[in-house]
Order: sequence, then C-alpha cells, then structure tokens
Amino acid sequence: MHASSIYGHVLQCYGSLLMLGVIALILSPVNAKEPCDFFDTVNVTGDRRLTDGSYVHENVTIPAAQVAQYSYIYKYRGEKIEVEPHLRGCICHLKPCLNVCNGWGNMKLNRSESSLNITFLDGSTSLVDVAEQFVLQEQRICKEMYLLLPEDNFSWLLNEKAVLWEEVQNINRTKADFCVTQFEWPKASGQYSIQPAVCIETSEFVVKTQINGIVMWLSIPFMLLTIAVYLIIPELRKCNGKLLACWLSSLSIAYSIHPTLAFGIHTQYSIGCKLAGYSIYYFIMAAFLWHNAMSFDTWRTVRNITGLTIIHFVRSGASRLDRE
Ligand SMILES: *[C@@H]1O[C@H](CO)[C@@H](O)[C@H](O)[C@H]1NC(C)=O
Ligand SMILES: *[C@@H]1O[C@H](CO)[C@@H](O)[C@H](O)[C@H]1NC(C)=O
Ligand SMILES: *[C@@H]1O[C@H](CO)[C@@H](O)[C@H](O)[C@H]1NC(C)=O
Ligand SMILES: *[C@@H]1O[C@H](CO)[C@@H](O)[C@H](O)[C@H]1NC(C)=O
Ligand SMILES: *[C@@H]1O[C@H](CO)[C@@H](O)[C@H](O)[C@H]1NC(C)=O
Ligand SMILES: *[C@@H]1O[C@H](CO)[C@@H](O)[C@H](O)[C@H]1NC(C)=O
Repeated sequence: MHASSIYGHVLQCYGSLLMLGVIALILSPVNAKEPCDFFDTVNVTGDRRLTDGSYVHENVTIPAAQVAQYSYIYKYRGEKIEVEPHLRGCICHLKPCLNVCNGWGNMKLNRSESSLNITFLDGSTSLVDVAEQFVLQEQRICKEMYLLLPEDNFSWLLNEKAVLWEEVQNINRTKADFCVTQFEWPKASGQYSIQPAVCIETSEFVVKTQINGIVMWLSIPFMLLTIAVYLIIPELRKCNGKLLACWLSSLSIAYSIHPTLAFGIHTQYSIGCKLAGYSIYYFIMAAFLWHNAMSFDTWRTVRNITGLTIIHFVRSGASRLDRE
C-alpha cells in the first residue's frame, strides 16, 4: 500500500470523527427526549394533570412540552441512579427553585416553620414563607456539606431569585451549590430556623486533577520540540516521522485543553465547556487513530524487511544452485 493512500484513509477517519462531533454538538441540548437538565426538574407523578397535558405542581403550571420521562435520579451531584421511569417537569425556569437538603439527619423542612428574610432585587427585605416564594426541590447536592451557622460567624442573604450571598467569601451561590435545612437555633431553644448548607470541596480530588493538568501543560513544550525535530531534519521526514508528528500534535492539543477543566475556567453547561469537552474527545480519538496508523506502518516496515530477507535468501540460494 502506498503511503499517500494511508494518509487518505487517516484523513477520512479525521473527517468522519469531525462529522460525528458536529452532529453530537448539534444534538447536545441534553437528550432529545429530556427538555431540561435533571436538576431543574421535579417529580410530577402525583400532581394534577390538566386536559391539555400540562401539570400543576405547587400552583405552577408546567406545559406538556416541559414534562418528560426520566429513568434516573441523582442522589448526589455525580451519583446517578437508575430508577423506574417517572414523569418530571421542568419547573425551575418558571419559578425559582430552592433545594431542601434531602437526607440531612432526619430533618425535613417543616412547612409551618419555614419563614425566612428574603432580599428583593429592589433592595427591600421582608419575611416570606419559602414554600410559597420558591419551588422546593429535594436534592442533597454533595455527600459532605457544612451548615453556615451564625455561631461560626457565617452571615448570608438569600434573594428572591434563590441566590445565596455568603458574606465571608463574598460569593453568590446558585441552587447547584447549596441547600437549606431546618436547624435548631439557638441550640436547645426548641426554635427552628432555616440555615443553608454548602458543599465541602473535596480538596484532595481538586489538587490531584490540578497537578495532572500542570504536568500535562509541562509536557507540551517537549512534544512540540519532538514535532519540530521530526519536521525540520530531512532524514526524519519520512512516513513514520510524519505519523509521529501527527500523533504528537493531536495529543498536545488535547493536553492543552484538558487542564482548563481542572482549573474551573468553564462554567457547567456553558458553550465553552461543551466545546472543550468535544474537542478533547476529538483529539484523543484522533491520537488513537494516528497510533493505529503508526502500528500499521510499523507492521508494513517489519513485513518488508523480513520479506526482502527471505526473497534475498531464496534468490541467493537459487543462484548458488544454478552455479552448481
Ligand atoms: C415520584 O412520585 C411518586 C408519587 O409521589 C412516587 O411514588 C415515586 O416514587 C417518585 N419517584 C421518584 C423517583 O422520586
Ligand atoms: C413542625 O411544626 C409543627 C407545628 O408547628 C410542630 O409541632 C413540630 O414540632 C415541628 N417540627 C420540627 C422538626 O420543627
Ligand atoms: C427578619 O428581619 C427582621 C428585620 O431585620 C428581624 O427583626 C427578624 O428577626 C428577621 N427574621 C428572621 C426569621 O430572620
Ligand atoms: C397555592 O395557592 C393557594 C391559593 O392561592 C395557596 O393557599 C397556597 O398556599 C399556594 N401553595 C403554594 C405552595 O404556593
Ligand atoms: C465570631 O466573632 C466573635 C467576635 O468577633 C469572636 O469572638 C468569635 O471567636 C468568632 N467565632 C468564630 C467561631 O470564629
Ligand atoms: C451577588 O449578587 C448581587 C445581586 O445580584 C450583586 O449585587 C453582587 O455584586 C454579587 N456579588 C458577587 C461577588 O458576585
């Protein structure tokens, strides 16, 4: 097989991979059957269904197009569990949602003691019933969380969009980052108040992925150097040298994008995050395919060498026979 036709095949692989990636990117707004992200939904199985197919959940009417079957739930973020298919409606786009820490001890939100001071976007503050102000979702976000208690000098404000502002760190948290629970405060007073809980960042995991990322970045200059050597020196500019350069270039592009995920440059579900994810997938797959091409090239070379040797051996043997 001629070297240029190998390139043709590999380029075809590159092309079809790119096509697959583009198709996946177009279809990516979650599963076609699921109108929104799981975390923006509530279980509407027991809710009243109107004649037009919409569901009424806590006084919010969810249009039929925003209701679909889900066959999984998330116990925690990142821990998906298969369950019986059930109907869920996308409610958080219609009314702000607030997460109630499900499975926090035995506590659930006591609906008769659920008032909280909420700040409104016009700057005013008033005491509202959270069960009326927000749609309550029962999602424990992380396995390990801590409460923002006043005794630990935490101070926070919840606004009408269910965004929690935490004073100490001066950060705004959306519902993906906190949940609320009822807590006896002051202690042993018999009075319960609503307190938010936030995730304990598993720093070990974060540090590990960041070190990985830095090592990836550090290896890129050496890959580029290798590519340069193989392209500049004419003796190395052969089929296997070019294949090596292609493989290393795919790998170095993947290695340059991958660490951006570990350093939290992209926000979840953003277009940048999707692009980074699909690009990494594409270039890692491309690197594997170049590796395939390299194996083929190696096999071809080895076969030719042994083939030539045998032919040479037979020929020389034959000529010796002739002479005798
Ligand atoms: C959904 O709600 C129904 C009725 O309240 C309940 O039987 C079912 O277990 C719930 N499903 C999940 C996965 O929470
Ligand atoms: C919930 O509210 C009811 C009625 O006010 C009260 O009897 C009950 O003790 C409360 N439970 C908790 C856990 O606060
Ligand atoms: C709500 O705010 C008012 C005025 O700032 C305060 O008196 C009241 O104790 C607060 N209530 C709660 C439940 O935090
Ligand atoms: C639903 O609306 C009724 C009547 O306006 C009200 O009494 C009830 O508290 C509302 N429920 C919620 C969860 O907002
Ligand atoms: C909270 O602040 C008070 C007064 O500034 C201080 O005495 C106390 O030690 C702080 N508590 C904690 C847990 O940091
Ligand atoms: C948090 O949100 C409020 C209101 O939306 C805004 O005024 C404030 O600047 C935000 N703070 C941070 C740290 O993003």
